[in-house]
Amino acid sequence: MSLTLSRYLVALGYGTRKEAERIVRQRRVTTAGGTVLRDTDRYEHDDVFVDRTPLEAPPGSVILLHKPVGFVCSLNDRPPMIYELLPATYPKRTPVMASIGRLDADTSGLLLVTDDGPLNHLLASPKSHVPKRYAMTLAEPLRGDEADLLASGTLMLKGETTPLLPAEFIATGERGGDIIVREGRYHQVRRMMAAIGNHVHALQRVSVGPLTLGDLAEGTWRLLDAGEIDVLRTAALEYKAVAKATKG
Ligand code: URA
Repeated sequence: MSLTLSRYLVALGYGTRKEAERIVRQRRVTTAGGTVLRDTDRYEHDDVFVDRTPLEAPPGSVILLHKPVGFVCSLNDRPPMIYELLPATYPKRTPVMASIGRLDADTSGLLLVTDDGPLNHLLASPKSHVPKRYAMTLAEPLRGDEADLLASGTLMLKGETTPLLPAEFIATGERGGDIIVREGRYHQVRRMMAAIGNHVHALQRVSVGPLTLGDLAEGTWRLLDAGEIDVLRTAALEYKAVAKATKG
């Protein structure tokens, strides 16, 4: 690593410059084998331990969080924030670990969090058309025309002037459905269902591009491995290329 150890600890959110220097001076940073590391020593991320605990995720990590209802993604919203479910260093990292897009406080499910700014932009950009699948429970029974209305490409949200992209709706029960959307407008799914005369009771995001929630327990998270990040990035580039080509 090219940064001194203390600067690396600062970047990973272990404290201010002074605090990180003190941690190193206090001989609390070691290799797996217990050798004390000094500030100017060479090191490998995976072989650095603070107080005998491995360092949190290296730069360029992506985590998949199963967000429960009640947690917010933005500092501007009323807490608790998703950071309460993550390692304490994450909000203090530079670059910060930020969510890729957002889920409402009332929505649960798959949320990606990363410190990789370009990847975040690629996945969150409206031009990328990354498919996101949501499972919902509705207040009113389905009528049967939902799939056609949502796929029309002409549906308009209240207060907006650009029609929604076509979305795929799959009925899953009398009052249940899954929807696949390729945009990320404010409260989009709830407003889409309101636009066709229904009301969403419960909403969960079950997939983003090639990633699914799987059996990850609510409130827990896991790190994506390098292969999964690669698949995600490649898929996002493909969705974007297809969207661009289709637009003409
Ligand atoms: N649509 C919504 O209405 N809410 C979300 O959190 C995501 C999509």
